[in-house]
Amino acid sequence: MAEPIVQVRNLTKRFGDFTAVDGVSFDIRQGEILGLLGPNGAGKTTSIQMLLGLITPTAGEIRIFGLPFDRHREEILGRVNFSSTYVSMPQALTVEENLRVVGKLYGMDRITSRIDDIVKRLEMEEFRTKITRKLSSGQMTRLSLAKAFLTAPKVLSLDEPTASLDPDIADKTRALIKEIRRSTGLTVLYTSHNMREMEEMSDRIIFLQRGRIVAEGTSEAIKAVYGEADLEDVFLKLARTKPRA
Ligand SMILES: Nc1ncnc2c1ncn2[C@@H]1O[C@H](COP(=O)(O)OP(=O)(O)O)[C@@H](O)[C@H]1O
Ligand SMILES: [Mg+2]
Repeated sequence: MAEPIVQVRNLTKRFGDFTAVDGVSFDIRQGEILGLLGPNGAGKTTSIQMLLGLITPTAGEIRIFGLPFDRHREEILGRVNFSSTYVSMPQALTVEENLRVVGKLYGMDRITSRIDDIVKRLEMEEFRTKITRKLSSGQMTRLSLAKAFLTAPKVLSLDEPTASLDPDIADKTRALIKEIRRSTGLTVLYTSHNMREMEEMSDRIIFLQRGRIVAEGTSEAIKAVYGEADLEDVFLKLARTKPRA
């Protein structure tokens, strides 16, 4: 079998005395959608930010495309992208200008036709020329997704990508993610607080609690282990159980 596209070993992040991510290890295979689940403060965003090189791990190892992240940072980041609510883009630029900047930063060719394509797929035509500062949160989310898809990444991190979308756009966004995965073999790390969405999207789920992995497997396997019919009930059970010290 091919080597996993993402390999994380004993990943740890401490902020002062507080350990936000505590010795986490997992793999993501090529073309897989891995769901990262856990209550607020579990360490999901911190883990993702380390995978994206936005913050430096206190300890542990990350390999992406088989390459150690710390020594191949630029090469890796050219083939990785992300969408999240914490991304900030120049507020005075229009949506289209912001996408153009991203395309240039990644050294893309045919930028205009790629922007046309992604704007159409995410139904962004009506706010394409709007100033970013004036976007609604749902429009901002779509801009963040467009930015992520624009560069045709091999690995994509989507941190609560549907959080502020209406049910119609959220559904279309999930379909688009799956369609792009099917056509390009995209590998995805996914988070959401919507359990139905986690089940629908994730090939496999990792449940984080206080920085540690407390459950891992397909949603079916995790539900079976905890004797619950609903992932939501597994979530409540795990989130309300005190982890071992
Ligand atoms: N820069 C930081 N400084 C101090 N604590 C932080 C910082 N970033 C995150 N944390 C803490 O780390 C924990 C995990 O946060 P986070 O990764 O955002 O959780 P999640 O995304 O699962 O909700 C939280 O307790 C949070 O307050
Ligand atoms: Mg988070």
